[in-house]
Amino acid sequence: MIKSRFGTLAIVAMLTAGYMGAAHADDQTDRTLAAGKQRFMQNCASCHGENAKGAGIVASHLETAPADLTQLSKNNNGSFPFKTIYDTIDGRTDIGAHGSRDMPVWGAEYKLGTPTAGGMSESVVRGRILELIVYLQSIQE
Ligand code: HEC
Repeated sequence: MIKSRFGTLAIVAMLTAGYMGAAHADDQTDRTLAAGKQRFMQNCASCHGENAKGAGIVASHLETAPADLTQLSKNNNGSFPFKTIYDTIDGRTDIGAHGSRDMPVWGAEYKLGTPTAGGMSESVVRGRILELIVYLQSIQE
């Protein structure tokens, strides 16, 4: 008997929804936050600093000073500028006023070596950027 693909997908969706639901929501958030923090320390702290305030070890070698990432909400009238930050980290749509930027294009970095089947690589990229954003949101002052 051939099982319907939709049937399987529906079950996966239900399980995922259940998993994200009440009982495990906090675990899930904690894990995303921890993953985002770890990624930040690996990929971002060299420029933005371990405390994200902009004074990483290579900061003085850059033409543009890395932004203080704890002030993103404050600089945006108290609300976290999700879309702008997402696009800035991704970087692939940022043509750059002067044709270059000091910030690496993370959307392209995170795509390297990811599985290409069925749009998987974009999901991986999105997951990695979202992890970082969850962490950044948690450190707003
Ligand atoms: C090589 C140094 C470098 C690294 C590594 C780096 N950044 Fe940046 N980042 C910068 C610089 C410099 C700026 C200032 C603006 C510019 O040049 O585009 C910036 C700007 C930003 C901004 C925009 C802030 C604003 O006020 O709009 C965000 C968000 C950001 N970085 C997040 C990250 C994240 C997340 C990572 C890690 C995945 C990261 N950066 C890694 C150098 C870096």
